[in-house]
Amino acid sequence: MIRRALCFPSFIRKSLLIPPVISPYSNSSSKIGAYNGYASQTSSLEVPDSAPYRENDEYADVDWDNLGFGLMPTDYMYVNKCGAGQHFGHGQLNPYGNIHLSPSAAVLNYGQGLFEGTKAYRKENGQLLLFRPEQNAIRMKSGAQRMCMEAPSVDQFVNALKQTALANKRWVPPPGKGSLYLRPLLIGSGAVLGLAPAPEYTFLIYASPVRNYFKEGSAPLNLYVEENFDRASRRGTGSVKTISNYAPVLMAQLRAKKNGFSDVLYLDSATKKNLEEVSSCNIFIAKGRCISTPGTNGTILAGITRKSVIELARDHGYEVEERAVAVDELMEADEVFCTGTAVGVAPVGAITYQNTRMEYKTGSGTICQELYNTLLGIQTGVIEDKKGWIIEID
Ligand code: COI
Repeated sequence: MIRRALCFPSFIRKSLLIPPVISPYSNSSSKIGAYNGYASQTSSLEVPDSAPYRENDEYADVDWDNLGFGLMPTDYMYVNKCGAGQHFGHGQLNPYGNIHLSPSAAVLNYGQGLFEGTKAYRKENGQLLLFRPEQNAIRMKSGAQRMCMEAPSVDQFVNALKQTALANKRWVPPPGKGSLYLRPLLIGSGAVLGLAPAPEYTFLIYASPVRNYFKEGSAPLNLYVEENFDRASRRGTGSVKTISNYAPVLMAQLRAKKNGFSDVLYLDSATKKNLEEVSSCNIFIAKGRCISTPGTNGTILAGITRKSVIELARDHGYEVEERAVAVDELMEADEVFCTGTAVGVAPVGAITYQNTRMEYKTGSGTICQELYNTLLGIQTGVIEDKKGWIIEID
């Protein structure tokens, strides 16, 4: 939680808390005119996509011990625009703030938009680390194809992430206290009236320091198997990280939370017999040394944490199956856990299905904890990255 910032409107907060920024691209050490009172949309910083942008190394005034997953605006966001049928060029870092959109922007009217999520970690030596950012770029490109949108190239995407993380470096939590969540968005920002792809696209990235996603912290989750609502349908967009997949889960999620559950576990819409995923993450079950997770058949989001956990589990000698996982298998499972960028690798302590509550092993000695420790160790630079998953950016 920001201590001082809460007392002031954001433009005052910025002028109070943010030290002047020295451009690494100017010949002199002239200050960028971003914080002369109002954080205006025009006081932006144009930077070449390949060049690193360096903020000073101070920490922001944040209570690092009490981070959750609430939005805490940081200094800069990255913005890049491109017309339909064109390619993205250079983007720029703007002060974090509202964006201007036509009321008839395709994203507002027809949901033509994608988002991504990835995290920057601070290593003990102060370096920032990104985890497999090219995987987010690839997923955004394929999602953009499905949603008839222009997308940044993989290099543009990764460079934009690096710039955003570096420009907001003082918001990256100290080692062991969390990470800087980076949220890339690709939206149809151009105006339409009839249903059609937008004539203009905006790619932007904003950031927020985060720690635990669920209010449970790192305590086991208590899930509810939802049978009245579906998350995705065959040949729909369940596998795409489109914004339009997420608002529809809110009703079931809110109802489950009201009834004391952490979140909702969906079943496949066609048969209602197989597990799909939780509102915001993938699901795994473990029985003995065999781990199973629903295969990416078109309705399941191909999570980057999911893919990484599968690889790590195989490295650790577990058998991993990607297949249809029957809801009935929940009765026999030893462990259940969730994976996702925001969620990490989160233990599930209980699942309620048709009025039956099933409980699972959690805590020390579990597969979940082993995989969590390994993954987080690699992400934070504590465990050597032998897979080329980590990009050091400072
Ligand atoms: C993530 O895990 O990063 C996501 O994008 C899920 C979101 C609902 C928080």
